[in-house]
Amino acid sequence: MSHDMAAQVRRARVIVVGNEKGGSGKSTVAMHLAIALLKSNRTVATLDLDSRQKTFTHYIENRHAWAQQNGLDLEIPDHRYFIENTDHPTAEDEAADGNALIAQIGELARDHDFIVIDTPGRDCYLARVAHSLADTLVTPMNDSFVDFDVLGTVDRATLGVTGSSHYAQMVEDARRQRHIRDNALTDWIVLRNRLAMLASRNTKTLSQGLDDLSGRLSFRCVEGLAERVIFREFFVRGLTALDALDAKTLGTRPTLSHVTARLEVEALLAALKLGIAQPGGELAAA
Ligand SMILES: Nc1ncnc2c1ncn2[C@@H]1O[C@H](COP(=O)(O)OP(=O)(O)OP(=O)(O)O)[C@@H](O)[C@H]1O
Ligand SMILES: [Mg+2]
Repeated sequence: MSHDMAAQVRRARVIVVGNEKGGSGKSTVAMHLAIALLKSNRTVATLDLDSRQKTFTHYIENRHAWAQQNGLDLEIPDHRYFIENTDHPTAEDEAADGNALIAQIGELARDHDFIVIDTPGRDCYLARVAHSLADTLVTPMNDSFVDFDVLGTVDRATLGVTGSSHYAQMVEDARRQRHIRDNALTDWIVLRNRLAMLASRNTKTLSQGLDDLSGRLSFRCVEGLAERVIFREFFVRGLTALDALDAKTLGTRPTLSHVTARLEVEALLAALKLGIAQPGGELAAA
């Protein structure tokens, strides 16, 4: 990666949503972050690095179509998707893709306040580059030891943490690169997603494990989102828990679940400390 090009990547705050574990809620979280930032009157560019699945791209396209179809004034981010060379790329191909990504981020950074980047649920060169450019890295994880496994290992008998795993090591490496290059620190937040409504022994043991790991790996752990059917329904219409709670916008009657989900997302945004005014009026510390 060219250092000169990387140095240009600054004005905007770069938020990367990443986890090598698939299906942990990256695209859902990326969409909620982008819309929340737009609702706080920030300019937002969004970038989808999952060129095969393109969930983030489709989510935003669905929002655009739903707004047009119903005459709604829904905020739409300035969206791009990035297509990498997937046909047995050589090291040179990867480096070229990496430099193209850095150039694109540099360009977007000049006229946006935030860039929200969604990454694929697998290890790939572009995701590594994106991780090394993050000001804020958000890692959603499901409430399961299967998801924990990409971050850390635990002792079978005691369930105490014994070490860090491959994704955590990749993040450490990316943060090190970032620090050497820009003398800047990446704020890493592990966000618990799809939390069960009822407290369980699993949730409690996972909390202890994450607590332990957060010290070793320097991340902040945030209680994120509960398991709610509405998060799955939002995609088709491109909606988020932060959109207006009326039947015209939602295409269905608002429920208590919508209200609670919105509070949950607002609490999550405050915890991320992005320095944006919350819809309730309070300013989260930068
Ligand atoms: N809090 C939640 N409650 C219920 N369902 C959720 C929640 N968060 C995400 N989902 C659902 O879980 C599935 C995976 O979410 P999403 O696509 O956002 O994950 P991802 O990490 O981007 O996946 P991939 O690794 O495949 O890109 C989707 O069906 C999504 O609607
Ligand atoms: Mg995704």
